[in-house]
Amino acid sequence: MDKQIVLTGIKPTGMPHIGNYLGAIKPALALSEKYESRFFIADYHSLNTIKDPQELRDYTYEIAACWLAAGLDPDRTLIYRQSDVPETFELTTMIMAFTPKGLMNRAHAYKAQLDRNREKGKPDDHNVNMGLYTYPILMAADILLFDTNYVPVGRDQVQHIEMAADIAEALNRNYKETLLTVPEAYVSESTQTVIGMDGRKMSKSYNNAIPLFLPEKKLKKLLNKIVTNSQEVDEPKDPETCNVFALFKLFATPDQQAALAERYRAGGMGWGHAKAELFEVMNAVIKPMREKYDALMADKSVIDKILDAGAFKARELASEKIAHMRRVMGVDR
Ligand code: TRP
Repeated sequence: MDKQIVLTGIKPTGMPHIGNYLGAIKPALALSEKYESRFFIADYHSLNTIKDPQELRDYTYEIAACWLAAGLDPDRTLIYRQSDVPETFELTTMIMAFTPKGLMNRAHAYKAQLDRNREKGKPDDHNVNMGLYTYPILMAADILLFDTNYVPVGRDQVQHIEMAADIAEALNRNYKETLLTVPEAYVSESTQTVIGMDGRKMSKSYNNAIPLFLPEKKLKKLLNKIVTNSQEVDEPKDPETCNVFALFKLFATPDQQAALAERYRAGGMGWGHAKAELFEVMNAVIKPMREKYDALMADKSVIDKILDAGAFKARELASEKIAHMRRVMGVDR
């Protein structure tokens, strides 16, 4: 096992979709086979937007269940809830003193809200809470607390990792030692973009997402709503421009892909058939995971035990780190 440390955070904001699974969850789990890995549920990051307590609680269980069902092995990969590791918030305070305000002004999530406000003629600070503004600092603390080398993230998060690296370097310079490991983003080179129901990139914000663990019947119904053209059954069809086929490819073997492409081109196959084929291959992959997911959600005590054990181990590591930092910084007696 490589000694390098991989860590990533998952914001609980609702059930992951197929795109999240293929683009983030699966690659992260593959990394966890090679590196010492820590995956945590970033519930305090979600608090910036989710203000309903039951919703936040439910999402937290859902996300834990999703990752466990997708194959995360808690015996080899540390999984914990951010809020269970209060050392995170102490480190946040420590690194605030080294974070220029100007750095936060440049953060994408904050700037996006600023742009929306300006578009609508609202004041710059409209809908900007301090959690959003300081989001990258909390995220840096998540990362730096565990001497993380690599952070698997989507492209939209790379800037945050660079900020965490800048902050780490500022402390290291000041204290003239490698107090904090400088992290690097790890963007998986997945060439496949997962498209949604309407052919655009699958995204919750486009309302075109296919949730990962829908009950079978609902999944079938949802797939029937994938946007296709209005060609008749007998017409030959082009698989390469079809949303159904694009999704099919992500789950089917090369032989299955060739066979379905052949049926497209031959004509005599309606969209309903293509969608039924898609359901079969997708469901075959998802079904065993869905069964685990349903079992975990039916009895949450298993998740509770796993998260408790994870928090215990995470705090062991974190409290040692914080104690060392306090000594180096002079926050001791
Ligand atoms: N900001 C990340 C996202 O929106 C979630 C996150 C929080 C995270 N803390 C992290 C990711 C630390 C990687 C490392 O997806």
